[in-house]
Amino acid sequence: MRVLVTGAAGFIGTHVASALAVAGHDVVGLDALVPQAHGTDAIAPAGVHIADVRDGALLDSLLGDVDAVCHQAAMVGNGVDAQDLPAYAAHNDLGTAELLAAMARRGIDRLVLASSMVAYGDGRYTCEYDGSVGPAPRAVDDLAAGSFDPRCEVCGGPVRWRPIDESAPIRPRTSYAASKVAQEHYSGAWCTLQSARCIALRYHNVYGPGMPADTPYSGVAAIFRSALERGEAPRVFEDGRQTRDFVHVQDVARANVAALEALESHGVGVTAYNVCSGTPFTIGEMASVLADAARGPEPVVTGEYRAFDVRHVVASPDRARTGLGFEARVRPDVGLVELASARLRTR
Ligand code: UD1
Repeated sequence: MRVLVTGAAGFIGTHVASALAVAGHDVVGLDALVPQAHGTDAIAPAGVHIADVRDGALLDSLLGDVDAVCHQAAMVGNGVDAQDLPAYAAHNDLGTAELLAAMARRGIDRLVLASSMVAYGDGRYTCEYDGSVGPAPRAVDDLAAGSFDPRCEVCGGPVRWRPIDESAPIRPRTSYAASKVAQEHYSGAWCTLQSARCIALRYHNVYGPGMPADTPYSGVAAIFRSALERGEAPRVFEDGRQTRDFVHVQDVARANVAALEALESHGVGVTAYNVCSGTPFTIGEMASVLADAARGPEPVVTGEYRAFDVRHVVASPDRARTGLGFEARVRPDVGLVELASARLRTR
């Protein structure tokens, strides 16, 4: 297939473009080199067109003989403050809308969309009395007292985390999350209008070689890895027992290839899949694995907390296994050791 990969110069897009090429697809790359991710003097990899997905005229020329689009281009991170709202809306919401309109003009009806676990907002939990529940908002007094685990949203009692699957409610909490949900919804509208198919891949915490060194928009793996490179201890917030699923970027790339090749067998509309390792890790464990592998200072558990953080988000890999035949190959304990000495992108 001839595939347009947007965001082809980015951390994930670079790996996706190579995996598609290795799988025998003909890749056309596009990237706007947004300064938040690339700095101001970035050079695009060979063969990647430097352009914005909002440039409809350029899309019309690039999409001429394309069969499918793999849309990785986005402004990422959680957003620093409210001044970031227009940029998320412009790059992610409007960018996707322009891309979908251009695909419709060219009759292209297959899309793989990079979505995110942030669409769920929070993890899922089991309450002894209320079954599968979401968490109640964490009270500032609890957090200040060092009590970080959330309570049941129904009865206020204790809860245990459970893996989140794709049927969980969508509850975006940040500007980035709102824009990722919007991308899924615009894609749904496009599918209805065009009798088209879309697979939305909800990436969990992606890490691996080529990830950007820390910026105000970075996730925790890049922040810890960059601290260790400076000879500083990773600073672990809360009590370090908050849980995530760290998935290697090469597995994410493989999931994209699997999704592209599975689109044909999917019905009209959007189907969402978690992309995860299936092996949960606490932030404290992740910091220790990285620090040991880097022979750096031991992590420091600070007890700090951030209002927008969620406590546990742990993915169910089941639907991706049955629907895409995708299973991660890189175990986080192995991949994080590799990350300790991998090259990071310094913009
Ligand atoms: C991250 C990404 C989000 C992405 C999602 C899934 C960022 C900022 N967040 O969300 O965009 O969609 O993964 O791929 O890119 N922490 C520390 N020390 C630090 C920083 C963070 O202990 O210096 C802790 C936080 O308190 C939190 C956990 O690490 O509990 C994860 O934080 P972070 O990576 O920022 O956000 P996610 O919610 O996992």
